[in-house]
Amino acid sequence: MQVRLSRRKLLGLGLGLAGLPRGQAPLEPQAVFPLGVASGDPSPDGVVLWTRVAPEAFQPGEPIAVEACESADFLEPQGGLIETGFGPESDYTVRADLDGQLEPGRGYFYRFIYRGVASPIGRTRTLPPPGTMPERLRLGLVTCQEFGSGYYGALAHLAREDLDAILHLGDFIYEYSGDPRYRRERFAGRAFSLPSGSYLAVNLADYRALYRTYRSDPFLQQALAAHPWVFLWDDHEFANDTYWDPATDAPGAPDHPFKNQPERLRKLRLEANQAWSEYVPARVVYDPTASEPHRQISQYRKLAFGDLLELFVTDTRSYRSPHPCGEGGFGQRQFATCSAQTRPTQTMLGAEQYRWLRENLTRSSAKWRGLASAVMFSPLRSGDLTLNTDGWDGYAAERQALLQAWARAGVDNLVVLSGDLHSALAAQVSLTFQPGEPWLGAEFMAPSLTSPGPAETLRRLAFWPGNALLEQANPHLHFFDGDINGYAILEATPEAITYELYWVDKTQNHPGAPKRLARRLRYRPGKGLEALR
Ligand SMILES: [Fe+2]
Repeated sequence: MQVRLSRRKLLGLGLGLAGLPRGQAPLEPQAVFPLGVASGDPSPDGVVLWTRVAPEAFQPGEPIAVEACESADFLEPQGGLIETGFGPESDYTVRADLDGQLEPGRGYFYRFIYRGVASPIGRTRTLPPPGTMPERLRLGLVTCQEFGSGYYGALAHLAREDLDAILHLGDFIYEYSGDPRYRRERFAGRAFSLPSGSYLAVNLADYRALYRTYRSDPFLQQALAAHPWVFLWDDHEFANDTYWDPATDAPGAPDHPFKNQPERLRKLRLEANQAWSEYVPARVVYDPTASEPHRQISQYRKLAFGDLLELFVTDTRSYRSPHPCGEGGFGQRQFATCSAQTRPTQTMLGAEQYRWLRENLTRSSAKWRGLASAVMFSPLRSGDLTLNTDGWDGYAAERQALLQAWARAGVDNLVVLSGDLHSALAAQVSLTFQPGEPWLGAEFMAPSLTSPGPAETLRRLAFWPGNALLEQANPHLHFFDGDINGYAILEATPEAITYELYWVDKTQNHPGAPKRLARRLRYRPGKGLEALR
């Protein structure tokens, strides 16, 4: 549920004044707002604020208010009553869009008030004023946070970082349960089951339960409350390696038990999208009455950090063609080669989003043109084999058409941010990814927060080629690390992009989990990528 606010004064809703039956002890904030608060999609004059009221604390008809203030005393707040009712229909989640109420380039404290109880206080930040050139911008980059595969100490570290925003590059949840009957997890306290009893999400209640489980983590709550976030989704917010199948006019989900039931998959996609829209604070077009996924939600959008960075946030899952070499595993979706990879009809973005990205990114006059893509943009090969046709390598003609448009426009300031591979890398982006070509820009991948990387997975199968071999086979790669969990920080100044990669020990459930700087790189047009350590 996303609602506009009434700017009526918060009369009668002040702390401790309303909603409490006489003689009853005040409710604890934790009892009313057990999942904390979050903010997302900052604009120059607003931000989307989020919370969830515990069903046990919910009273039908009781109003909820939100306020944001530059100082933590909340003496002169912006905000107001949230007009639309909320409740079981939104799984008790509340989103409020403060667009138009805040000043650009400022930090704000915010909180919700329900039944006289204030939520934990969150901090957020609006985007810089349009037409200005910020001296510096710092973005946290995270992705792939499978709950059962480790702890979120990296997020406790990120909560303490000085950042303008955090970009989440997808796999905020995984559709699997952590049910010990189906999975053997190494991490105590991370097992859970789904309401359906299935090993993976099969309905709306399952997806909602997944978000509630993930969001119960205190370090995730700290990071969500400390900075504004920008979210895009990858496959696991719905189903592994999903795509759109024009033959059935339904999503494809090659590893899902419903894979041969397009009607059920279409309904399941609507339900996954609904849960995402309930639990993720994003300013996207969402129509709860739609019965067709593409009409229900449109997620791709752009954010401008003044004139320093224009960030194009893409959806690489909802419109993409089936995998080019078939829907099997090894030899088809991974470690594959086939002529259909370069088929011109193979689309990653769908026609409309493709045109939007190509034209707007070409026209952008920002110092840096950012492309947020859940999946890897640059090629990743081993001999003739494409390692992952689920990335842009399976959709190479569309990638080539984008690169040609940008090369013709003389682009040298492209910054691609990606995830999905559970690896970290930096790559030269150029027209055909051959060494010696003019640089269009660079790609930086966020490491997975907890999900097992290829080294961890393939070593078990004695099938891990190693970082060095992959670097040799792919000369456009500045480095490849398939053996790291943690996060990255991207710093933009008018002169350079700096990428810092941090390893964090996911085995320690501690806010001070061991952390170390693994890489520090700089990209400058005309200079390429340089290692700073
Ligand atoms: Fe992932």
